[in-house]
Amino acid sequence: MFSDPQPVLDQLRAEYGPVVGLGFGPAKMAIVGGPQEVRSLFTRPVEDFRWNHKFNALAVVVGQKSMITSDGDDWARRRASVQSAFSRRRLNGWIPMILEQADAAIDALPAEGTHEIDLYQVGRAAILEIVVRAFFGESMADRAARFGELMQGPQDYLELPAWRQLPHPFPIGKRGRVKADRRAFDDLVRQAMASIRANPSGDPNDVLEVLVHDDSVCEEEILDQANTLVGAGFDTTAASLAWMLWCCGLAPDIWAALRVEADEVLAPPGHDHDAADHTTLNRLEIADRVMRETLRLHPAGVISPREAARDIEVGGYTITEGTLVLWSAHLCGRDPDVWNDPLDFDPDRFDDMTEDQRAAADAAWVPFGGGRRNCIGFALAQMELTLLIARFAQRLDVTPPATGKPGPVGMVVNRPRGGVPFHVTRRS
Ligand code: HEM
Repeated sequence: MFSDPQPVLDQLRAEYGPVVGLGFGPAKMAIVGGPQEVRSLFTRPVEDFRWNHKFNALAVVVGQKSMITSDGDDWARRRASVQSAFSRRRLNGWIPMILEQADAAIDALPAEGTHEIDLYQVGRAAILEIVVRAFFGESMADRAARFGELMQGPQDYLELPAWRQLPHPFPIGKRGRVKADRRAFDDLVRQAMASIRANPSGDPNDVLEVLVHDDSVCEEEILDQANTLVGAGFDTTAASLAWMLWCCGLAPDIWAALRVEADEVLAPPGHDHDAADHTTLNRLEIADRVMRETLRLHPAGVISPREAARDIEVGGYTITEGTLVLWSAHLCGRDPDVWNDPLDFDPDRFDDMTEDQRAAADAAWVPFGGGRRNCIGFALAQMELTLLIARFAQRLDVTPPATGKPGPVGMVVNRPRGGVPFHVTRRS
């Protein structure tokens, strides 16, 4: 369970049903994997749960003043301080930039011949460039690669088996590297804050500038929010793109269909993307279905934790106060009562549904959580993934290794073990 959770979750669900109690004393846990039961968690008041709980490994990385690790009024204030960055209008404004970054990543690959390339690393670097530009504007773009280096320590730490992530006060091993990287990250952000104070641009799209001028948040909170946006926005999306590449790379007909669609909708290589907007995105219907189907089968968060702040009733069971509640997007996405042939990768399944099936599927598709504590970056992530897979399929021929799709790695962010080492040829 604490090193390779997916098979254990599948087995527990099959043997014991949608709500399973485990552990004892302060380590009591409830795994909630049935779609109805998970939805019932999302509709409860947020006060019924604590995200700032004793096992929260994320606090080691993003800090105690991040929205992701806080509760109550502090959480509401911190989430509100960055919410404007995720308005639909603002997200749509990023579409040309996302396509430009996809092109930059592809243009950096060898122009001729076929090469074995880990497309996970290519996608991850592109997503980092996108996230840094989206939140900090062009002024921080030259620091994106450095941010990436400083996120490696946290990634290595969060990939440890869960029991090795348990919070303790000693700065040793991977935890020591996380602390050192975090200090260096904060120094970069502090420098940027100082230059904003000295020369404010007045750009309402620069999240850091908005935070610097927001009297309701202190410096430590700004640093934790900045780290959260880069950290949460980067590895999750990169892991999802890696699974998308595997799923589509192994299905040449889907890769070909993505390409035909992208050729119709996107500008040809070498042209700018200034005209791309939300209508462009809406026309990438196959890429959208591929994105949804991949996140169904391979959600970045296999289980997401919160602690019960009072006794709650879920699916006929009482989960007592202090229990760690692990709801599972992985189990919901593979529930055989909702999805036909749940282990098959079939992007067209979203097309051929009756109304009842669609309602059940909507309830069971929860890679971004739900309710007031849902993922703040859900629309950005979906937009990035749809545009990136379309552009990759349009501009690259890929051959996956004969070994087939690998198993997962990563306790906090689920990604394919070994990355995406495909044979890649740039399309002329
Ligand atoms: C495919 C990509 C992503 C997936 C699968 C994902 C998934 C999730 C999930 C499952 C939650 C937790 C919900 C809960 O605790 O119940 C969450 C929370 C969060 N996500 Fe994402 N996420 C993704 C991308 C992003 C992006 C791009 C950003 C921002 C740039 C982001 C920022 C956050 C933040 C800040 C929270 C905490 C929200 C809160 O506690 O109020 N995520 N995400």
